Amino acid sequence: MRLIFIGPPGVGKGTQAKRICDHFGILHLSTGDILREEISQNSLVGQAAKQVIDKGELVPDNVLLDIMAIRLSQNDCKKGYCLDGFPRTIPQAEGLEHILRNLQQSIDAVISIDANEKELIKRLVLRGNNSGRTDDTSDVAKQRLDVYWKQTAPLIEFYSRRNLLQSINGVGEIPDITQQILNGLS
Ligand code: C5P
Ligand code: MG
Repeated sequence: MRLIFIGPPGVGKGTQAKRICDHFGILHLSTGDILREEISQNSLVGQAAKQVIDKGELVPDNVLLDIMAIRLSQNDCKKGYCLDGFPRTIPQAEGLEHILRNLQQSIDAVISIDANEKELIKRLVLRGNNSGRTDDTSDVAKQRLDVYWKQTAPLIEFYSRRNLLQSINGVGEIPDITQQILNGLS
């Protein structure tokens, strides 16, 4: 099973992706986590990513595509995976199709989770207080939402055309939302 999770920041993509991965025994691949790991190691990629992330903007497509081309070709990805936070732009989605063609793999479904803006900002600021993520302040959260609508939301149409899209309401109890996703996958 290979899945993509799309949704605005704070909608619960990561939470749901992890639960779905546990259910199927597949790998959870969060590009945000990968970038934060690069930052904590102070690598060249990490240094460049930190500037961008702290402004609430997106790391360039070619950087993400290079990272994911390597990551997806590794052995542990053979059992399947949930992509959380990637692709985030149309060029990234096109690049992913190219990577997957080379690996002779395909995506089974794209889960698009949504919630209203007020709820999202409330959750992000709360998460910032608890997780200490430097990009979960109210200003950066608003910028990230803006970037989401401009650069990532067009992916909904992109995957809908490929008949892969499953739309889910992200407001509700966590287990109920997981169940809705599983229902759509069976
Ligand atoms: O996915 P997550 O919300 O954890 O990502 C945190 C930040 O990492 C994003 O706001 C963005 O700045 C950066 N990012 C990115 N491109 C991705 C994934 C994350 O630029 N594909
Ligand atoms: Mg996340």
